[in-house]
Amino acid sequence: MSEQTVAGRAAAPTQDSACCQVSSPSPPAPLPRGEGSEASPVPRGTPTPFVVALLNRYIAANQTLLDVGCGPGLYRKTTPARFIGIDYTDAPYYPDWPRDVDVVAEGSMLPLRSGCVDLVMSKSAFFQFPQPDEALRDFFRVLRPGGRILLFDYNRRTQRHLERGENSRRPCWTQWQLRDRVRAAGFTQVELLLPMSRQLPAALRLPFLIAQELFGSWAIVTGIRPK
Ligand SMILES: C[S@@+](CC[C@H](N)C(=O)[O-])C[C@H]1O[C@@H](n2cnc3c(N)ncnc32)[C@H](O)[C@@H]1O
Repeated sequence: MSEQTVAGRAAAPTQDSACCQVSSPSPPAPLPRGEGSEASPVPRGTPTPFVVALLNRYIAANQTLLDVGCGPGLYRKTTPARFIGIDYTDAPYYPDWPRDVDVVAEGSMLPLRSGCVDLVMSKSAFFQFPQPDEALRDFFRVLRPGGRILLFDYNRRTQRHLERGENSRRPCWTQWQLRDRVRAAGFTQVELLLPMSRQLPAALRLPFLIAQELFGSWAIVTGIRPK
């Protein structure tokens, strides 16, 4: 499937598998496909094209981008903005796979002053946060009025798949449930996006979002901190 289509295939192991873990002596839990496109994951350590495109649509060179759960910090070099990477650990995933973290901190307790960030992103990480609503409130706090949140999270299907691989329990939200959580944190103009560099008009997105929920991997939500 190309990036321009939406529905994904059955989940399968990829190179991103270990990215959820600090280190693992045993084979890591399988993650679904869905990094570059859902059928053609990009190689480990390569930024995902639609993520780069969406970020660069919403951030400018003189602004600050905060990546929470940044892991290897893949988007540091793809943005003209000032990049701050936060993760709750800076330990390498594996000896040959480092994290690239500016600030070690829990995603719901950001050691940043209020209103200092233009865009907060979190990719393939938010579903792991033990206190997601607290994290959203802290994302809201550190954003300037008019600033944007951009969550590239996994949908319920994918989270359930991960649960089975890791023998863990998660809340496992749909795209629409994640959108509602973002709204509840105070964000406005909240909308669901598709894993595509160029978005369809909002009015045409619904069938593709449904296909994404049933067959795809992603739950992508954006919103604005009101002025
Ligand atoms: C699957 S990796 C994704 C890394 C990166 N965002 C990317 O897409 O390449 C998830 C990252 O989230 C971090 N993480 C998980 N829970 C976190 C939390 N509560 N606070 C901060 N970071 C967290 C993990 O340490 C890990 O580096």
